[in-house]
Amino acid sequence: MNLLLQYLVFLIFSSVEKIFFMSKENSLKVKFYNGENIPLELHKVRIVQKLNLVPIERRLEALHEGGFNTFRLSTKDVFLDMLTDSGTNAMSDMQLSAMMHADDAYAGSQSFFRLQKAVEDVLKKKYLLPVHQGRAAENILALAYIKKKGDLIPMNYHFTTALAHITQYGGRIVELLYDEAYNISSSHPFKGNMNVEKLEEVIRETGVENIPFIRMEASTNLIGGQPFSIQNMRDVRKITDKYGIRLVLDASLLGENAYLILQRESEFENASMADVIAIMTGLADIVYFSARKLSSSRGGGICTDDAAIYRELEALVPLFEGFLTYGGISVREIEAMAVGLYETLDETMISQSPQYIAYLVNALTSQGVPMVTPPGVLGAHVDAMRVCAHIPQTQYPAGSLAAAFYLVSGIRGMERGSISNQRDEEGNETYADMELLRLAVPRRVFTLSQIKYVEDRMVWLNENRLLIGGLKFVYEPPVLRFFMGGLAPVSDWPEKLIAKFKADFGDSL
Ligand code: F0G
Repeated sequence: MNLLLQYLVFLIFSSVEKIFFMSKENSLKVKFYNGENIPLELHKVRIVQKLNLVPIERRLEALHEGGFNTFRLSTKDVFLDMLTDSGTNAMSDMQLSAMMHADDAYAGSQSFFRLQKAVEDVLKKKYLLPVHQGRAAENILALAYIKKKGDLIPMNYHFTTALAHITQYGGRIVELLYDEAYNISSSHPFKGNMNVEKLEEVIRETGVENIPFIRMEASTNLIGGQPFSIQNMRDVRKITDKYGIRLVLDASLLGENAYLILQRESEFENASMADVIAIMTGLADIVYFSARKLSSSRGGGICTDDAAIYRELEALVPLFEGFLTYGGISVREIEAMAVGLYETLDETMISQSPQYIAYLVNALTSQGVPMVTPPGVLGAHVDAMRVCAHIPQTQYPAGSLAAAFYLVSGIRGMERGSISNQRDEEGNETYADMELLRLAVPRRVFTLSQIKYVEDRMVWLNENRLLIGGLKFVYEPPVLRFFMGGLAPVSDWPEKLIAKFKADFGDSL
């Protein structure tokens, strides 16, 4: 029995190693005779889950029950769940089989050592602190390094949970993107780049002693999953070296950022995923991630090559997460994480979601729907400020579009606009730079006909956009209000939208 287990472990990890050493040429590029540009799947579906598409009347009831907040919908009422890719990417057969040979132990689990090896092989960092998910890493970093009120964390752009943890411990942030990043329809390949000139200015004005670290987020989530270039990260590194400030990389969407570097940064045209990922993580002092995204599993981690940093953070893991060899993650998920990390190097896997997104963004753009361009990663992002130009920001255009889109399609997207922002210290609204509806495309989950359905309903809704009305808060939690907040429509616009839907689609779902 023991031998059999050893053989199974060998089988899984030897297949995974094949991926690890796979060259770039293995990612097929297939042209269609008819000239259509179709993202061809390089996987087959072997486990399926049945979906429901409930009638539009039920969808309206579900919206009322969930406070017009798509986070609060029950999946029994959701057809395509495009809320997020977090914990919803399809797992591979290799990941699932690895989960079966996990080593249950409070301390010293072999599963942890396999994960540590994967981190060393893929992220090239020696020390790993496991945490239960990405925001747990943010909590630990903010607690360890924000020592006084007003400490400033410069970053390319905030992520909701990173900002919440930094402000929780009295810190502040400053966002340093180039102006081009705020240009929603653009062809700039690297809108996630950090503005290095401004960064240096901020450091001089604020003083090194008031800047505990600088944070760079791969595939900058809230501006539409937009990458930064390696050249930009090298420039940032020069500055952090010059002033002696730690550089922290949020690697939750690292694989996708690396993939877009292969596509868009000429120096890396012939590089491999492994090369690009190693360069990016090599430039950072601390790398943290949500494994719910990075490795299509659950969990998270903080890693570094610096023994002193490891020691500074080490004690906080048992305090908040669990012992140092599981960090609040089940050992089964740790095994899936290890395999998922190796699979991040497989360009055929990592390219699937960005290619579907590009397909959807191009299809919608060509039919007049304003989208964030160039297409990024994680999801397709609709510019709600333009679709709902008639709805003032005080009535949350992106939240309104998310609710309206669910109503007419059963598709659940996520508001990424002012509802996702937090109020300032005086309790005033801080309106978002961009009002976006994010339609997440988790890895290898949807089929192309489902993507075409998304396209069809969004084009219809855009053509009927004047029927969409605003929302108002009826219940507003003080922290991360977008998760559990409750809203209500400001008029009877949902009923009017249903009437038009019925007129155009008859008894179609
Ligand atoms: N950093 C980034 C860039 C993220 O996108 C997320 C999560 C986190 C950190 C936090 O990680 O959820 O594991 O605690 N993003 C999810 C999303 C929630 O839907 O975009 P977590």
